[in-house]
Amino acid sequence: MGGSMEAIGLAVIGGTGVYRLAELDDVQAVEADTPYGRPSGPLRIGRLGSHRVAFLARHGEGHSLPPHRVNYRANLWALHAAGARRVLAVNTVGGITDAFGPRVLACPDQLIDYTWGRASSFWDQEGGEVLHVDFGDPYTPPLRTAVLEAAARAGVAVVDGGCYGATQGPRLETKAEIARMRRDGCDLVGMTGMPEAGLARELGLDYACLAVVANWAAGCGDAAEITLAEVLANVDAAGAGLPALLRALLEG
Ligand code: HPA
Repeated sequence: MGGSMEAIGLAVIGGTGVYRLAELDDVQAVEADTPYGRPSGPLRIGRLGSHRVAFLARHGEGHSLPPHRVNYRANLWALHAAGARRVLAVNTVGGITDAFGPRVLACPDQLIDYTWGRASSFWDQEGGEVLHVDFGDPYTPPLRTAVLEAAARAGVAVVDGGCYGATQGPRLETKAEIARMRRDGCDLVGMTGMPEAGLARELGLDYACLAVVANWAAGCGDAAEITLAEVLANVDAAGAGLPALLRALLEG
């Protein structure tokens, strides 16, 4: 049987600063099309050790798509159609509460959706099926457990839990907005967590988030302003553990 017939063990959606998985071998670029349009870029399907892994850069490989313009439906649909059943979403975020400072990796267990106007369901045709998927636990608990156990085996520190607040962007938040999010119970803030997680649930995909803290959210640290240079340097540093974590997750 050809390699392309093997199941995909894991799909990784890379966020800001994670545009490739350099560790993948025998990579094929798959230009997918879906009933919802084209994904952000090619699916890069390759091998990590003895496992097939699909990688997709959420913002496009040249980072040309802002968070509110990402075709989340096409991305999830394409990964599902390629045979992926488990998705690890890597999301660059700001940290709000004490345990989530810059360079922390976290695997949140809750989210609050503050986004608006995004195509957030596969079932949005009038006259079509109306579906209300259970979303009480937005991240698949067994996949979260697997991620945390893999991180422990790989010696990569990952904070267990936290609430991800998904904002619309592309601008960063005001201090008052972050103060409100803190009162709401958010630990992390990012612009890409939704509708991605909800769409994954609609497709029955296992889905977990690995949040990479790039900066203190507005008003939370000492920095006068948040710069892209700071964000990218912190994502690079925190992302160093990612390959080992993925390997452990695939082998686990
Ligand atoms: N806010 C929202 N999204 C982000 C941030 C932030 O501070 N940092 C990285 N992504």
